[in-house]
Amino acid sequence: MSTNEDRLKTLIGHAKEYGFVFPSSEIYDGLSATYDYGPYGVELKNNIRRYWWEAMTKLNENIVGLDAAIFMHPLTWKASGHVDAFNDPLIDNKDSKKRYRADVLLEEHVAKYEDKINKEVEKGRKKFGEAFDELQFRATNPNVKRSQERIDAVEGRMKAALEANDLEALRQLIIDEEIKCPVSGTANWTEVRQFNLMFATELGSVSGESSTIYLRPETAQGIFVNFLNVQKSARMKVPFGIAQTGKAFRNEIVARQFVFRMREFEQMEMQFFVKPGTEMQWYESWKAKRIAWHRALGISEEHYRFHDHIKLAHYANAACDIEFKFPMGFKELEGIHSRTDFDLGNHEKLSGKKLRYFDTETNESYVPYVVETSIGLDRMFLAVLSAAYAEEQIPAKEGSSEEGGVRTVLRIPAPLAPVKVAVLPLVKKDGLPEKARAIIDTLKLEHKCQYDEKDSIGKRYRRQDAIGTPYCITVDHETLKDGSVTIRERDSMAQQRVPIEHLARIVGDMVDLRGLLRQL
Ligand code: GAP
Repeated sequence: MSTNEDRLKTLIGHAKEYGFVFPSSEIYDGLSATYDYGPYGVELKNNIRRYWWEAMTKLNENIVGLDAAIFMHPLTWKASGHVDAFNDPLIDNKDSKKRYRADVLLEEHVAKYEDKINKEVEKGRKKFGEAFDELQFRATNPNVKRSQERIDAVEGRMKAALEANDLEALRQLIIDEEIKCPVSGTANWTEVRQFNLMFATELGSVSGESSTIYLRPETAQGIFVNFLNVQKSARMKVPFGIAQTGKAFRNEIVARQFVFRMREFEQMEMQFFVKPGTEMQWYESWKAKRIAWHRALGISEEHYRFHDHIKLAHYANAACDIEFKFPMGFKELEGIHSRTDFDLGNHEKLSGKKLRYFDTETNESYVPYVVETSIGLDRMFLAVLSAAYAEEQIPAKEGSSEEGGVRTVLRIPAPLAPVKVAVLPLVKKDGLPEKARAIIDTLKLEHKCQYDEKDSIGKRYRRQDAIGTPYCITVDHETLKDGSVTIRERDSMAQQRVPIEHLARIVGDMVDLRGLLRQL
């Protein structure tokens, strides 16, 4: 695999061939930026969702769940600001006819300067060895300083233009920086225009009685409008949180990069209601908790970084992203936002209903502030899948049940793997299939198991590696004599002989979601 594009293509091909993700309505040539999850994809997605849900609602006694409707009263989106401000600044290249988000073009341009700095720092580290002082190097090296000045200048102008909604200034910045279209290689740009991302539809079928409603562009508003229902019915005291997972819809203009940016996707959001004035402390605390949730998966540290927002969304007083190193580079995986009382305050105004919390200890009544954590389930799916994908050269060994050659393996964290155990009878006769099925019967209430009797054991191992199954259990003639089986571990390919009675414990120890939750 060479370029980022090749790496993404390889992953998309693998996801389709092995039943993780299919293009939507493929027999009609698909529908752009919509995908369907196949038999293994849906299992992986459900496991990620369960990991998030349990981390939120089981490990925090002050967080409860909700499942609100996708359709909401149209005034919801007026109050939330989405009708007026949920826009992307778009620019087209006249030669390639490709459309881009103007702010993304600029951010990618800035990332190139950041790369230059990182390369310079690495050179310095090699040159000075143990004596290398990175902070001093960054502050004094002329090349690094020049690149940093460029970054500060571009970011400064971009922030000012976005805040003032000055689309001409945004375009001018793209021209001044000589940013070119990656497809045509020219800087022949149109003007920048704003485009609202909500999907609208009609409620009711009788002409004249219908009214425009929107498919929700975020799940968060279902939580805000239910704030008092939940607080009162579940007897919650501030600070407390409401967690929800569900579909959201955005008419993304630049929708590509597989399940990273879709028009229909799923969010996992948690709104944490706090006393005004304490929000920054909770913001920091949720940043720490969320990165710990990611790190417990054991994906290497260098895949994650924080990125503070330059332009704050219309509702936020502080915001950052957890970015992940996807096949196409570092991109936003999760957002953590301090949303102030913007949403509850506006819903109060438009609905005319009080959305206040009465603090019985201080006898005060106030509109709580909100810190939210918001992660795309599909993006998390792509993060797990892309970090898991590996191709390895396996030497052929005489007498080994492993096949030589290239093996494609998904090193998915075991508790998230779609299938946890494959049980394989060595041959399709002599009572081995029956024994294999009896073993599955002892495991299937706890774990997703798969039976496979076709082809050589080596080929069956490869098939399980390709879908990320952590354990393969082989049943052979010895099994019938002494009740032992071979258990083979996916990543190390190590095999050991164990009694059947030990299987539930061995498998359970590694694949149990509690193993992840205990680390939080
Ligand atoms: N309630 C806050 C909110 O919606 P956001 O940053 O717009 O914030 C939150 O979205 C998360 O939803 C993102 O970090 C991303 O993981 C996911 N997301 C947003 N748009 C998406 C899209 N078009 N396709 C897939 N996931 C998306």
